[in-house]
Amino acid sequence: MRRLAIPLVLLLAQALAAAAPADSEVGRAVYDRWCARCHGAEGDGNGPAAPFLMPRPRDFTLGVYKYKSTEGTRPPSDQDIGRMVAEGMPGTAMPGWKDVLGEGDRQNVVAYVKTFSDIFEAEEPGPPISLAGRPADSPQLVAVGKDTYRKAKCHECHGDAGKGNPSKKLKDDWGAPAWPRNLTRPWTFRGGSDVKDIYTRITVGIPGMPMPAFGDAGKPDALTEWERWSVAHYVASLADPARRPSPAANVAKASYRAEEIPADVTAQVWLDAPAVSFRLAPQIIAAERLFTPVVDQVTVRALYNDREVALLVEWDDPTPSRPGDRVQAALAPGEMFEDAVAAQFPVAPSEGPDKPYFGHGDAANPVNVWYWRAGRAGAGSAYALFDMRGMGSKVERDPAPSGLSASGEYTDGTWRVVFRRSRLGDTGDVPFESGRLIPVAFANWDGSNGEKGSKHTLTPWVWLWLEPAPSLKTAYVPTAVALLLAGGLLGASARARRAGGRREHGEGK
Ligand code: HEC
Ligand code: HEC
Repeated sequence: MRRLAIPLVLLLAQALAAAAPADSEVGRAVYDRWCARCHGAEGDGNGPAAPFLMPRPRDFTLGVYKYKSTEGTRPPSDQDIGRMVAEGMPGTAMPGWKDVLGEGDRQNVVAYVKTFSDIFEAEEPGPPISLAGRPADSPQLVAVGKDTYRKAKCHECHGDAGKGNPSKKLKDDWGAPAWPRNLTRPWTFRGGSDVKDIYTRITVGIPGMPMPAFGDAGKPDALTEWERWSVAHYVASLADPARRPSPAANVAKASYRAEEIPADVTAQVWLDAPAVSFRLAPQIIAAERLFTPVVDQVTVRALYNDREVALLVEWDDPTPSRPGDRVQAALAPGEMFEDAVAAQFPVAPSEGPDKPYFGHGDAANPVNVWYWRAGRAGAGSAYALFDMRGMGSKVERDPAPSGLSASGEYTDGTWRVVFRRSRLGDTGDVPFESGRLIPVAFANWDGSNGEKGSKHTLTPWVWLWLEPAPSLKTAYVPTAVALLLAGGLLGASARARRAGGRREHGEGK
C-alpha cells in the first residue's frame, strides 16, 4: 500500500496539471516578456526585431501556422503550437523555449497566442492525422519512394538530388521568396526529422508556403497513404551527416598522398578524404546585412603531397549564379551577382593554437586570400590571389609564382571548388608545414541572394592540419625497435609471451 501511495499522488498531480486549463492572462505576461520583441505586442509579427529577420516572425492575427498535424484547413492543435514553442524552428530566428519556460508557462503562452486570431473559435482542430499505417523501413520501400518523388514532382522544387534547387521562382503567401528545404540536411527541418514528421508534412503540407499537401484525397496530385510513407522514407534516406556542422569540429584534416592529387573531385581519393562542415554567418561588421543567407555552410576536404596542398570546398546552393544566365536570373529575388568563395590564411601564423587577429589582418599581420568566382555564363570561372592588411586594403598579386590555381563545377545543387597551391608558395605566402595547425577562414558569396563585395557570409577562424605523412610514422618504427632493444625490453616481453604461452598450455590440460 505504502509502495503505491507515492506514484498515485504523482499521477493525481499530473492529472490535475493536465486538466488545469491554460490561462491566457498569465500567458500574456510571458508573451510580453519573451515573444513581443519579434512577434509584436499586438501579435502582428511586427516586433522591433522583425525587420532584421528572414523568414519573418509569424503574424498570429492571420491564424496561419506552418507546422501542424491536423487535417486539411483545420487549425493547429495546442500540441502543434506547443511543440514549436518548446523545440523552436531550426534554421530560423525562432528559439526553443523549453529550457527557459516551464510546461505551464508554455501552455499559457500558447493559449494567449491563440487569442490573436478568431480561427480557433470558428473551427476545432480535430484529431491529428493517423500515423498507424507506418510501414517498416526497407530498401524496397525507399526505391518506391524514389519513384514517388518524381511522380509527385517533388524534384521540381527540391531538385533531383534533394538539395533544394528549384526550377521555378517560389514565394510564400506573404510575398517573400521561399526556398525549398535542402532534404539532405534533416537537422534543419522545422517540423522534425523523424519519418513520421516528414510523413505529416507531406500529408498536410506547410500552410502559407508553396509546399503542397499530398494527403487531400479530392485533389488531382494526391498520393495514397502508402506512397506518402514511401516518399517519407526516401526523404529520410537522403540525409548526409558529413554536411552537419558541429561547433566541436573545427579542424580540416589534410591527408598525405605520395602521388598526384587528382583534379577530378569525384576521384575515390577525394571521396575518401575526411570531410568537415563549418557554419557560415552573415558578415555584419562592414556593411549592414538584413537577411539570413541561403548558403549557410561549407564542407571542406583537404589533401597534400610533397609539392602541393589542395582544398576541396563544397557548398549546397539552390542556384548556380553566373551573370548572363537568364534561367537563374529569373529565380533570383533581386539582381543576381556571381557566386564566389574564398579561403583566407594569416601569412605568419603564431605558434600554438591561438586564434589569429580578427578580420582581414592588420598592418603588421597580413593575410593571403585565395578567391574563386563563378564568372559570367559561358565564360568559365576565374581565380585570384590577394594580400590584405585590414579591411579595404586589398592588393592583387600574380598567383602563378605561388603555384595557386582554382577550378569549380556545379552539379545537382552543389558547388565544388578545388584550390591548389605549392607547399612553400612565393615570398609573402603562408607555408604549409605538416603536423602544425594553420588558421584558415572561409567566405562565401551567394550571387542570387544579392551578395557582393563586403556583403557575404564567413566562417570563424578554423584550422587546417596537414596530417604527418605515413613515411614519417614508419620512420619512427625502427627507432622504437632500437629503443626497446637497448632497454632489454624486447627480451622482457619475449619472456612474458613465453610465460603466457605456458599458462595457456596449462589451461588446455
Ligand atoms: C528572435 C525572434 C523570435 C522570438 C523572441 C520568438 N519568436 Fe516565434 N517565431 C520567430 C520566427 C522568425 C518565426 C517564423 C519561422 C518560419 O516561418 O519558419 C516564428 C514562428 C513562431 C510560431 C509559428 C509556428 C508555426 O507552426 O507556424 C509560433 C507559434 C511562435 N513563433 C511562438 C513564439 C512564442 C510563444 C515566443 C515567446 C515565448 C516566440 N515565438 C518568440 C521568431 C521569434
Ligand atoms: C511547389 C514546390 C514544392 C513541391 C512540389 C514540394 N515541396 Fe517540399 N517544400 C517546399 C518549400 C518551399 C519548403 C520550405 C517551406 C518553409 O521554408 O517553410 C518545403 C519543405 C519541405 C520539407 C521540410 C519540412 C520541415 O519540417 O521543415 C520536406 C520534408 C519536404 N518539403 C518534402 C517534400 C516532398 C517529399 C515533396 C513531394 C512529395 C515536396 N516536398 C514537394 C516546396 C515544395
